[in-house]
Amino acid sequence: MEKEINRIKELRTLLNRYNYEYYVLDNSSISDYEFDMLMNELIALEDKHPNMYDPDSPSRRVGGEVVSKFNKITHKRDMLSLANAFDFNSIRDFDQKIRKATSLEEIEYIVELKIDGLAMSLDYIDGKLNYGATRGNGIEGEEVTHNIKTIRSIPLKVKTKEPFEVRGEVFLSKKNFEKLNKLRKENNESLFANPRNAASGSIRQLDSKVAASRNLDMFCYTFVNASDFGITKQSEALDRLDELGFKTNKERRVCRDIDEVIKFIEEQSSKRDNLDYEIDGIVIKVNDMALHDKIGYTAKTPKWSIAYKFPASVVKTKLIDIIYTVGRTGKITPNAVLEPALVAGSIVSRATLHNEDFIKERDIMINDNVIIRKAGDVIPEVVKSVATDRDNTQIKFKMIEYCPKCDSKLIRRDGEAAHYCPNNDCDARQVEKIIHYCSKLAMDIEGMGEKVVEDLYNLGFIKRIDEIYSLYRHRDELVKLSGYGEKSIDNMLTSIEDSKNNSLERLLFALGIGEIGQKTSRVLAKEFKTLANLTIASIEDLKAVKDIGEVSSLNIYNYFKDESNIKMINNLIEQGVNTVYLGRESETDSFFSNKSVVVTGTLSNYSRSEIKDKLEGLGANVVSSVSKNLDYLILGENPGSKLDKAKELNIRIIEEIELIELLK
Ligand code: IVH
Repeated sequence: MEKEINRIKELRTLLNRYNYEYYVLDNSSISDYEFDMLMNELIALEDKHPNMYDPDSPSRRVGGEVVSKFNKITHKRDMLSLANAFDFNSIRDFDQKIRKATSLEEIEYIVELKIDGLAMSLDYIDGKLNYGATRGNGIEGEEVTHNIKTIRSIPLKVKTKEPFEVRGEVFLSKKNFEKLNKLRKENNESLFANPRNAASGSIRQLDSKVAASRNLDMFCYTFVNASDFGITKQSEALDRLDELGFKTNKERRVCRDIDEVIKFIEEQSSKRDNLDYEIDGIVIKVNDMALHDKIGYTAKTPKWSIAYKFPASVVKTKLIDIIYTVGRTGKITPNAVLEPALVAGSIVSRATLHNEDFIKERDIMINDNVIIRKAGDVIPEVVKSVATDRDNTQIKFKMIEYCPKCDSKLIRRDGEAAHYCPNNDCDARQVEKIIHYCSKLAMDIEGMGEKVVEDLYNLGFIKRIDEIYSLYRHRDELVKLSGYGEKSIDNMLTSIEDSKNNSLERLLFALGIGEIGQKTSRVLAKEFKTLANLTIASIEDLKAVKDIGEVSSLNIYNYFKDESNIKMINNLIEQGVNTVYLGRESETDSFFSNKSVVVTGTLSNYSRSEIKDKLEGLGANVVSSVSKNLDYLILGENPGSKLDKAKELNIRIIEEIELIELLK
């Protein structure tokens, strides 16, 4: 008995080592046959000794765990994306900006391959994998731990008890992708367009057997809290990840200057096809992490890194027509209607033509054959027309002069290439504004996507943003509309009601003022504290704020000068929409600072987003799943299974009455 227990432990250690050798080092010391024999022995012994069950045993890599839904995980730090460069000039510009920002003559860079898969965050606590989560919207992702555990190059146990987070790219090798599609073809199943889609589809499976069968892999490239480990350079961070047992990509190089970076890109471009995984570019990062904060971030990307994208796939097709869309700021964009063509794994039938100058510079005519290009997730674009293919059916392009929606005469401001519809009440602009207001990163109103907003607008239920909050008066009519069930309308109305408690920064972003993104909204909220203060700020007041530039100041000023906007804002205030900064300043010394918290059930005094904002303002990390590392569970009415789990793990439970006291 004792002997068998010891053998289980021994086999687990051995098989973990062989897994590591095979999947991370790509250098196995035993044959597949020997490996299978040891695994069979372990499985048999584990069956015999169920009390030795360990979810992290190497035998569990074959999957089996099934989840009923994906829990949401709030990332400890936002998962950003990267700015792109498509040529070497842009890379030199990037280098120049970095040198200016740091006042350094020369910058050490690290260059890495840009793996074409999906970004993943892995969280480790107490030497064990705690969760794996997708990027999601960058702020909140989905927990996919059950599938992550099937990826054999990811260690389930590590040699440090310190908590840390690693990020990287989950991908499917070209070989496994081809195998998978071959099998799917034989079974008459639809084929995946590319390895990235296949990897992403596999990770988003409820049953981990599916992911296990796909043989996914992962390259790690970010050691999120490297500084806690005394690491100061990205190159050291990658070496440390190697030591901890993660798989990193070895095709990386530390470069002394930008010329060496460009040399690396040239070398890799020619080697690209020999790799057994897809890459779509090269990532360039400032190696010294101490410089990262100094160089800074935009809302979506770090300024200390850039992705060089390999030249995109280009395809020739016919431009059938040019149609126009009107954005929420009134900007008119001409778009090409194309004969559908397959580019970079997806069918393209529309491509942006940006503006009048873009079309004229490229001499693009209707009925022309054109070259279109698509790079990664970028919107497809028309590169040029093929004049030699012309056959006299071509029609010369002439920019429209009137808004396609409201017929107002378009304007083109000095120094700008775009035309604008000047009519603030233009239907197209209003619809776009409402769509933006409801969107996830803005007020996050559930059930009010593009299609629904368009319907509600066209049916006359909402013509302006503030009218969203009167929609509840039309509940009876709304539930009768075909296609909208009672439940979805009620969910939407609840979400509208909840959105009243959103933070001021969300509201500011949601108003859709030109150039005012999430980051600027945060700065404004923190600085001006109330929407009322902002409405009376002078251009000088605005310009005086760090990070607020000339254009933004003017846009904000003009926005609040407009009487119809003020009227709309007054209506929002009257309806109870929060216009006050809820604070994110007291991040130290609070009961909640640096604590991880789960909220379960319905609270009677706070909506979900309100309590989340409040807790985060006090420095808490609000997460969605209960684990033994959780500090507090906040308990509302009708809690689910999270309460049971928290009790089982002896987590401190806080009821609403106590919460109110604590928040005071
Ligand atoms: S660093 C702060 N390094 O590319 C941004 N990203 O277009 C952190 N990617 O979302 C990303 N290989 O999914 C980084 N060596 C690499 C990468 C890489 C692939 C992906 C990643 C990211 C996307 C940005």
